[in-house]
Formats: sequence, structure tokens, C-alpha cells
Amino acid sequence: MSGINYSEKIPNNVNLSEDRTLQRALEQWQPNFINWWDDMGPEGSTDMDVYLRTAVSVDPQGWAQFGHVKMRDYRWGVFMNPGEQDRKIHFGDHIGEKAWQDVPGEHRANLRRIIVTQGDTEPASVEQQRHLGLTAPSMYDLRNLFQINVEEGRHLWAMVYLLHKYFGKDGREEADALLQRNSGNEDNPRILQAFNEKTPDWLSFFMFTYFTDRDGKFQLCALAESAFDPLARTTKFMLTEEAHHMFVGESGVSRTIQRTVDVMNELKTDDVGKLRAAGVIDLPTIQRYINFHFSVTIDLFGADESSNAATFYSSGLKGRYEEGKRGDDHILKGNSYKILSVEDGKLIEKEVPMLNALNEVLRDDYITDSKGGIDRWNRVIAKAGIPFTLKAPHKAFHRNIGSLSGSKITPDGQVVTDEQWMAQVGEWLPTNEDRAYVASLMGRVVEPGKFANWIAPPVMGINRQPVDFDYVRFN
Ligand SMILES: [Fe+2]
Ligand SMILES: [Fe+2]
Repeated sequence: MSGINYSEKIPNNVNLSEDRTLQRALEQWQPNFINWWDDMGPEGSTDMDVYLRTAVSVDPQGWAQFGHVKMRDYRWGVFMNPGEQDRKIHFGDHIGEKAWQDVPGEHRANLRRIIVTQGDTEPASVEQQRHLGLTAPSMYDLRNLFQINVEEGRHLWAMVYLLHKYFGKDGREEADALLQRNSGNEDNPRILQAFNEKTPDWLSFFMFTYFTDRDGKFQLCALAESAFDPLARTTKFMLTEEAHHMFVGESGVSRTIQRTVDVMNELKTDDVGKLRAAGVIDLPTIQRYINFHFSVTIDLFGADESSNAATFYSSGLKGRYEEGKRGDDHILKGNSYKILSVEDGKLIEKEVPMLNALNEVLRDDYITDSKGGIDRWNRVIAKAGIPFTLKAPHKAFHRNIGSLSGSKITPDGQVVTDEQWMAQVGEWLPTNEDRAYVASLMGRVVEPGKFANWIAPPVMGINRQPVDFDYVRFN
């Protein structure tokens, strides 16, 4: 049941061979996907054999098989968690009814939009990260980058399968368009702004995988509750892969901090100039990167008040994070929730109907979760005996979506004028100088067991291999 059929052109556990038309349509899409991978996937990686994790089944034993493969030959496929018998819808207006195995006509447009928006982020991140292999700080890190890239490619497959199987001609057109939009492209950009930003250096990459892949986790968790059962089962399996992406981010930032505090202690200094001369990334710069990635990512949850969010929930398309663990009525009519807005130059809280504030509810759950990693980074600093604390910026800082988007608000939550913002923004967000300095550190280190000067080695290798294992063979 949960085994994956690798004898077919498209590995799958959804009995693809029983639906010839669908199989043929996906087999036609496949070469376009490979062309996209060749054009937009990791630069210069074609001949490399990479120690990758591949799923052979979706159960705990089988989803992580390791071996050296060429990424082009990675077995991208269509995998779903097994279905629950008689699964019932557990939130919204249809609560208690049977979960849908097909798309109800009245929800078709919204479901398609949700799947396309999720699907668009997957190839976008591969595009954003395509140059990073050229400046990897180690072979271990290079392998982790590539693992994430192939899995984002598979996540695209997961969404494309749903589009092809359940949305007919429009679904096939949307699947084609997912390969036509490109991150940062002026004429045909990716749908969400954070996925059009550059990922120019490895500190940005680690921040992106910590903060932005975690947005992915929360969106997938909300979709894993969906009344549309194939979407729920697909996203549940995607979540098992997502955990590694966030691990790469959290441990990457942690190792960067470790190296910085080691050098601070060696040189007995917190002077930014001296630390930069020693080739490590000073903590204030790391704070500014956090401020940037945190604020750009929380915008991804959408407007704080949204009638779409209410519709998606009430109609059963998208639940809340951990919907099943919550003690309320799962209908939420008459409930309220506090959102922020600016009045008379001050941030104030305002009660609004909870159904309209569900983007904000998910954003707040995300914020709680993402602060956990910042606490763990602070432990690295504290253990080194250095008096410095990293902080998540205020939720209202540097927002471009929703009611706060017109206001200038500091990382501490103070509303300021445009002039005050301009005078101080260089303390809050990475400056051109910061970015140029970080870029200057990026050189390629790929001998097994060697690490760039600005980052500490990991505590352990991948899949219990040693840290100096040959994770990538260059041939
Ligand atoms: Fe993904
Ligand atoms: Fe991811």
C-alpha cells in the first residue's frame, strides 16, 4: 500500500498505471520538467554524484534511502500518505461530512488557486538557490543544498499531479505555467514576493531555509487538514521532507554563530571591524539578516483581515495549524481575534471576526514556532559567555502586506516617521555593505571535511556518515 513503484517512468504510490490518460499527460509534462531542471536547477551540477535521500515508500522505514545519484536521475515522483478510512471533515461548515475524494464544483476555483500558489513556491526556491553550489562552504553543505533542491522539485511534482488528476484542461495549463514563471523574472515572476527575492549568499540560504521553509511547513500543515483528501494526504508526506530543510537552516545559522563567537573569544573583541578582518560574520549583521528574512516571510501569510481566508476555512479547503488538537467548535462563527493596526501614530490592537483573521492566526502560530530556533541560537552565544541576544523583530516591522504595510515601524514596535526610518534603517536591515561583506566571504570549499573560515563544522554527518564523508563526487 505504502510502497512506491519504481518500475514506472514516474515513480508513484497512487496507481498511476490504472489511469492511462493521466499517466500519458504526466509523461508529457516530465521532459518539460527535466528541461526546466537543466536550465534553472543547480548550476554546473550535471556530472556530480550526490549522496541523496530518496523515498521508496512513505512509511517510516522506507522514506529515507541514501545513496550517490546524479540529480538529473533522481526519482522524482508522486507519493501520498495512506488514506484514513472514512475520514470526516473536521472543521468549517461541512464538519462531520465525509471528506472529499474529488473536487466539488463550487470549490474548484479556490482549490486550484491554493494548489497553484503552493506549487509555484517549490520550483521558485530551486531557482533562487541555483548559483549557491558555486560558493558552498563545504561538501557537506553542498549536499544539503542539493537534497533540498531535489525535494522542492518533488514537491512541484506533488502539486502537478493534483492539478493534472483533478482539474482537467485548466489543471494541465496551470502545470505548464509552473515551469514558465521564473523567480525574479520581470515579465513572468513567481506568484509570491518572497520567492522573487534573491538568495545571494549562504547566510541568506540558511535564513531562507530556517524562516521561509518554515512558512512552507505551516501552509502544508494547514492544507494537511483539508476536506479535499488527496491534498491532505499529499501535503502530509511533503511535511516529512520539509523537516530536513528547516534543520539545514537552523544548524547552518547556528554553526555560523558558533564560528563567530569562537573568534570573538580568541581575539577578545566584539569590534565589528576586527571580526570582519578575521573573516567571520559579526552578530549585529546576523541580527539584520534575521530581521529581513523574518519580516519578508511573515508577509507570506497574507493580509491580516481576509475574506478569502474565511471562505477557505468555512468551506473546508484549508484548516488551522494543528486543527485537530484545538478545543473550540472548529466553526468559529462569532469568535474574534486581535490584529494590529496603526492609529494616531501608535500601534493598537483591534478585535475582528476570527474567521476573517485566520491568516493572522497562522502567522502568530508561525511566529511562536520560529522564535524557538532564535532561542537555541542564543544558547550558542550564551555558552560562549558573550553578552548578546538575538531577537525576532516586532511583528509589525518592515511589513509590505496588510494593514501595517503603509507604516514605518521599528524592530521594537515603535511607529516612526519616514525620516526616522531612513536615518536608522541601516541598523535594522542588511545594508549594501553588509551584503557585500558576506558575499566577499563566499568561496568554494569542497574538499571532504574542510569548511570555510566563517562557519563551524556540523556536530554530525548525514545519515550517521562521518563529517568528512564524500557526500558529493565531482567526476
Ligand atoms: Fe517544498
Ligand atoms: Fe522546503
